[in-house]
Amino acid sequence: MWGGRFAAGPDAIMEAINASIGFDQRLAPQDIEGSRAHAAMLAAKGIITDTDAKAIREGLLTVLSEIEAGTFPFSTALEDIHMNVEARLTDLIGEPAGRLHTARSRNDQVAVDFRLWVRGQCDAVDEALGGLMQALVGQAEAGADWVMPGFTHLQTAQPVTWGHHMLAYVEMFARDRSRFADARARMNYSPLGAAALAGTSFPIDRHMTAEALGFDGPMANSLDAVSDRDFALEFLSSASICAMHLSRLAEELVIWSSAQFRFVKMSDRWSTGSSIMPQKRNPDAAELLRAKIGRIFGANVALMTVMKGLPLTYSKDMQEDKEQVFDAADNFALALAAMTGMVADMTANVAELEKAAASGFSTATDLADWLVRELALPFREAHHVTGTLVALAESQGCDLPDLSLEDMKAVHEGITKGVFDVLGVANSVASRTSFGGTSPVNVRAQVEIWKGRLT
Ligand code: ARG
Repeated sequence: MWGGRFAAGPDAIMEAINASIGFDQRLAPQDIEGSRAHAAMLAAKGIITDTDAKAIREGLLTVLSEIEAGTFPFSTALEDIHMNVEARLTDLIGEPAGRLHTARSRNDQVAVDFRLWVRGQCDAVDEALGGLMQALVGQAEAGADWVMPGFTHLQTAQPVTWGHHMLAYVEMFARDRSRFADARARMNYSPLGAAALAGTSFPIDRHMTAEALGFDGPMANSLDAVSDRDFALEFLSSASICAMHLSRLAEELVIWSSAQFRFVKMSDRWSTGSSIMPQKRNPDAAELLRAKIGRIFGANVALMTVMKGLPLTYSKDMQEDKEQVFDAADNFALALAAMTGMVADMTANVAELEKAAASGFSTATDLADWLVRELALPFREAHHVTGTLVALAESQGCDLPDLSLEDMKAVHEGITKGVFDVLGVANSVASRTSFGGTSPVNVRAQVEIWKGRLT
């Protein structure tokens, strides 16, 4: 492609380190889409003839169908997808193929291809997150009033509802979704026509190609256009945050499905057995999901590291942007799909949840609040009285509702039998009606809101 200046071909090792065709062939559809738009623009501006543009545009479709059919002869000697496509186009249509690269460089070409690809991933993630949120809302609706322990420090804290717990993740994934939408809006400007780095002397129309490719306009600075990869980094950082959320949920599924918790039964579709221990049902999908998240974090760090020392504009280092993003995007898509399936198919063990919710003195805060409300104790004193009662119950080997009224009165004489109303877990959650609180009434209202938003 640049034979004019070179007498000898590259060393075999040079070819190996330089070639990206092994992975950037995934950009073929975007590369061809970009080239077709470029050719149409060149003809519209009179830079090439309509006849040549037609031959180029049709030839590119033939190349695409060869790639889709798996018959395309990819060549490492031709380095990357851009030169592989152009060389094949030359085989197919001859001389006009040589006119396609007018007013363009591989620098703006790869920038546009990769932007289109990452933009497509943003759209796919948006859809996948919508599906996951729907699965979570389905669980929340079914269990708006199922009571379970809420934890801090993984110690029983206060009873909460299953629906409230599910909707906590819906909120997180909704923010993740909006991060991808923001990133998409920022990346949706076209680098095409920035050429090598400085623009071109040909009378091109960058607005025309931008529009043809679904961008909101051309990028305003040619140096920036060929040299930044912040759009890919925004994708990776948004994916990293979302993956962190996925991993926390996966961790909960692993804990919840253990024999010690028995909060959920994962469906057979998402579990595996053991080759030696017949009783086992392992939550492999949740575990693998939790582990795969590291690749996404890793890709983010790797690409930040590739970019951080590069002077403007393009450097070949930037060829290392793609594999990281491809691998992260593939594993992210897999993680989202697996989580959606696991959530949709899991069965909550409602009796077990309730039993766990009632243990561990989970309504101690309700008792303290009752002392404040009914006996006008300062909260600090109520906290102390409640602590004494918890210690008493612990010494008797029972839970708070099992204490006798006499025992309670011995700790604080003002206590009446009305206190037993707040010691039950159902009353506890029903009372938490403050905005954003766990009560079934709140959960049902939020479920309705989400159902409206997710349709
Ligand atoms: N394969 C290259 C990449 O992925 C395409 C751009 C090459 N540009 C250049 N000036 N060598 O970055």
